[in-house]
Amino acid sequence: MAGSFVLNTGARMPSVGLGTAKTEPGAVGEAVYAAVKAGYRHIDCAPAYRNEKEIGLALKKLFEDCVVKREDLFISSKLWSGNHAPEDVTEGIDTTLEDLQQEYLDLFLIHAPVRTKKGAIRTAENYIPLNIPATWEAMEKLYVSGKARAIGVSNFSCKRMEDLLAIARVTPAVNQVESHPGWQQMKLRELCQSNGVHLSAYSPLGRPGSPAFTGPSFLINPIFIYIAEKLQKTPAQVALRWGLQMGQSVLPKSINETRIRENFNIFDWSIPEDLMSKFSEIPQNKTLRAEFVVHPQGIYKTVDDFWDGEI
Ligand code: A2P
Repeated sequence: MAGSFVLNTGARMPSVGLGTAKTEPGAVGEAVYAAVKAGYRHIDCAPAYRNEKEIGLALKKLFEDCVVKREDLFISSKLWSGNHAPEDVTEGIDTTLEDLQQEYLDLFLIHAPVRTKKGAIRTAENYIPLNIPATWEAMEKLYVSGKARAIGVSNFSCKRMEDLLAIARVTPAVNQVESHPGWQQMKLRELCQSNGVHLSAYSPLGRPGSPAFTGPSFLINPIFIYIAEKLQKTPAQVALRWGLQMGQSVLPKSINETRIRENFNIFDWSIPEDLMSKFSEIPQNKTLRAEFVVHPQGIYKTVDDFWDGEI
C-alpha cells in the first residue's frame, strides 16, 4: 500500500523520503547512500540545511555504483529565503542543482513564508515583507522550464494556502509541513486534499530527542505504546504508517542505518480501523513553533502571526 502518491502533475512521489534537515555534515552523505541502498527513492533537501554539496557527492556515487538510476529517484529541494525576489528564483534553483549535481528537481518548494534581503543572514530582524504572488509566478516559470518537475510550498498555514490557491495558475503540487500523530494537521490536510495538493510530512516522528523540542514525545504516550505492542511494530514504524494511511508522504530523518531500514519497513502491514481511531486520543503538540521567526521589529511579532493563529 501507498509505495507512492500521485501528484497533481501526474508524477509519482515515493511515499517515504529521507529527511536531511540539520543532519550533521559528514553524516548526511552516508545516510543518503544507506537509505537508497535500503530502498528509499525519495530524498528531501534544502539549501537551508547547508549540506546539499555533500548530498550531491552521495548521489553521484550512487549513480556511479549503479545502485539507482536518476530517473528512479525523486529529489526535492527548497527556495532559500534570500531568493524570493522573482529575478532571484532561478538562481536559487540553479545553486541547488549545481550543489546536488542534478539537471532537474522532481519537486521545488518555497521553503517557508519567510523572506530576507538577498545575501542577508536569515535572522528574524532581517525579514522583509513577502510577495508570494510574485515569487509563485517565478516558481511557475521554473515548472514550465522543466527545471522543477513539480512546484509547491512548505510551512504554509490554511490561510496562506487559500491565498495562494486564489492566485496560482499552476496549483501547488505539495505543501510540506510538520505532521505526525502528535500534530495531526486535520484541517490543513482536508483543505489540501480537497484542492488536489499533496500533504507531505516533515518530522513525522515528532523529532524525538531534539533539544529544540522539550515537550512530551507521543512515541512514549501509553496509547501509542499500546498500539505499537498490539501490532508488534516499533512506535516509530506506527507513526510513519499512520502518516501513509492518512494519505501523506513521510520524511523521517535518521543517520543510523538500522533506524533508516526500520523506518522503511512499513509497507507490508497496516493499522486496522479500530486502532486508527485511537490516534484521536493523542495530545496535540507542535514541535516546531518557530520562535526564531519572532522579533519586536521584525514582520512576525508573535509565533501566532507566523502560523496565522493555527497553533
Ligand atoms: P537518529 O538519526 O539517531 O536515528 P523527525 O524525522 O521526526 O524530525 O525525527 C528525527 C529524529 O528521530 C532523529 O534524531 C533520529 O535520530 C530519530 N529517529 C529516526 N528514526 C528513529 C526510529 N526509528 N526510532 C527512534 N528514533 C528515530
